[in-house]
Amino acid sequence: MKKLLLSLAMLPLMAIAGNVKSPNGNIELKFSVNKEGRPVYEMTYKGREVIKPSFLGLELAKDKHASAGLKETDLMDGFSIKDEKTSEFDETWQPVWGETKNIRNHYNELTVTLQQQQRREMTIRFRVYDDGIGFRYEFPQQANLNYFLIKEEHTEFAMAGDHTAWWLPGDYDTQEQETQECKLSEIREKMKTAVNWSNSSVAVFSPTGVQTSLQMKSNDGLYINIHEAACLDYATMHLELVDAETKALTTQLGGGSNAYTPNPTPSAYPLPKPMTFVSHLTPDATGLKGCMQTPCSTPWRTVMVSDDARDMLSNNLILNLNEPCKIEDTSWIHPTKYCGVWWEMIVGRGNWHYTNEFPSIQLDKIDWTKVKPNGTHCANNETVKRYIDFAAKNGLDEVLVEGWNVGWEDWANMWKRDVFDFVTPYPDFDIKMLNDYAHSKGVKILMHHETSSSTQNYERHIKEAYELMNKYGYDAVKTGYVGDIIPRGDHHYSQSMNNHYLYVIKEAAKHHIMVNSHEATRPTGLCRTYPNLVGGESARGTEYEAFGGSRPDHTCILPFTRLQGGPMDYTPGIFETQLSTWSKNTSWVRTTLCGQLALYLTMYSPLQMAADLPENYERPDLAPAFQFIRDVACDWDDSKYLEAEPADYITVARKAKGTDNWFVGGKCDENGHKTTIKLDFLNKGKKYECTIYADAKDAHYEKNPKAFTITKRVVKQGDVLKINEAPGGGFAVSLMAK
Ligand code: NOJ
Ligand code: CA
Repeated sequence: MKKLLLSLAMLPLMAIAGNVKSPNGNIELKFSVNKEGRPVYEMTYKGREVIKPSFLGLELAKDKHASAGLKETDLMDGFSIKDEKTSEFDETWQPVWGETKNIRNHYNELTVTLQQQQRREMTIRFRVYDDGIGFRYEFPQQANLNYFLIKEEHTEFAMAGDHTAWWLPGDYDTQEQETQECKLSEIREKMKTAVNWSNSSVAVFSPTGVQTSLQMKSNDGLYINIHEAACLDYATMHLELVDAETKALTTQLGGGSNAYTPNPTPSAYPLPKPMTFVSHLTPDATGLKGCMQTPCSTPWRTVMVSDDARDMLSNNLILNLNEPCKIEDTSWIHPTKYCGVWWEMIVGRGNWHYTNEFPSIQLDKIDWTKVKPNGTHCANNETVKRYIDFAAKNGLDEVLVEGWNVGWEDWANMWKRDVFDFVTPYPDFDIKMLNDYAHSKGVKILMHHETSSSTQNYERHIKEAYELMNKYGYDAVKTGYVGDIIPRGDHHYSQSMNNHYLYVIKEAAKHHIMVNSHEATRPTGLCRTYPNLVGGESARGTEYEAFGGSRPDHTCILPFTRLQGGPMDYTPGIFETQLSTWSKNTSWVRTTLCGQLALYLTMYSPLQMAADLPENYERPDLAPAFQFIRDVACDWDDSKYLEAEPADYITVARKAKGTDNWFVGGKCDENGHKTTIKLDFLNKGKKYECTIYADAKDAHYEKNPKAFTITKRVVKQGDVLKINEAPGGGFAVSLMAK
């Protein structure tokens, strides 16, 4: 590809185009500047339109500190191309943990430096891969652009058809909704019933606003996914669809306690054509979307595409667009299988809090040794020891204990600032004794820090809290952000909150602590740079099976959406699907038992929970299936997606790290699925002890969820397994090299 260097004199009002193809030529990216000086890009895959010509740019907020005396307020138009460069990149890197041992990062790059008449510069960098593109805005340090405030980013993604989309309502505070499936043109209507307003923090911004990662499928079978990579010091991006009814961007739907009043100043730029998504950033408490200082850049905006759904799952575009690992010594970061004092509280049999004596508490005004316990506090010495024994007996690495620290009595009060101190245990949790006991059995306790979204409170205590963890030998923390953000008015996915989550990850790394962050913003591949970020929630997890249930196809969608940015702590492994058998909870899990086993493979994560109660795993009728959870690995040398279709089914085979053992899992929706697995991936000449955990003939997620069979045989490369997945079911196979 040739390098274009143009003299400034040639530039005014010239529409100049650059283009670049992916290494195998399947994807082509075209860039130009139109006659108003607006940057435009378009994208094709095997000659088919993926993104029609779409504008790029940012609208800035007026600010008394902004550079004075300039005609342009915005970074939207008046641009000409100052410089254009292409280059190639090809490297293979090894993640600290992952789905494969090696990851190839191979792309062609187009970098365009744009200049406005008043000598402000902005660079747009495109990376074109065989399975998608990434691009971002870069703002070099310059006299005429120093500090600036973002009113809105206007990155457009013009769709080439009325695709089917799997989407969540665009929301500044929660991702814990059921995924909706409909045509783009139906989103506005479907939004009316898509929002669960009872979540602890909801702020929906538009009747056509959706979240990323957004998975779509075109009528002619193209799979298209829009997301972002490396969201650092920037607000999380949503997408707003311009449809036939859109009059202006962003009309507030409202709701929840955090209802957002939209910026009253409409955008100065014309609406794009219908069927175009436009970026919509999460505002901070003032309504602004970004506070920038050059040199800086935005996150990468990503578009993945393929005519094979499996490529959506094996794609490494998001990780590749992140910076290499910044942690020098990673020897303390490890894949972890854990159980925990958790499910019995979620289901409602026990409590996080210790006493029912007070309507509210103030941490420094209570003598906990004099307080009357409620008798239902779960994080007590006896219960925790039982979980430690269970973990030790079954080869689980850690035991999560929630509710160990004072403050849970009124933790969910919306505006309480000093909720927890993260260092004071309740009187019935002997932190030294329990950690010593766990360590003597080769097990660790997994720390829990629910911040109750009082973020400054957490930052004030974090050093002491992590020193306490170091003192007692904890090496992982589950953080949580339930409720509206304090300081008031801020949102879970704003620039300042994204900076908070990163601060926590970096601070944890200093203390050799792994992080699993619940309710934080959706991941964008930062785990490549900070591999101590081993997990996160940021979607509707298993807990919702106790809150009324999730649809059986839920976990056949998440790998296409939420998991694009990084692993999820989905907390699978619920064997007793009927919760009323051991609690007063009448909800039930919408999968079969084998469907639960499949999730250890189809929902990739280096952190995997065995979430049910030890007593359920020990039940004679259920215990044989627990062998799979004992055996399954959670770090891999190789992964092969054998079948996939969003919201229908996913089948994957994975090779356990440093071994010749393989594990295969398949999960399907409410319609069931028949799978045929060719064992081509096994080593030639080797024999494998194959154990198949399958739904019984009459199994059904609603009518007969716990009916399973276990069959064993010896297999070799080339053999074929035929397995029937029940409605809402799945299967799991272990293949141990002999
Ligand atoms: C919500 C989390 O998702 C859940 O796992 C946790 O138990 C509760 N918050 C309490 O922190
Ligand atoms: Ca949650």
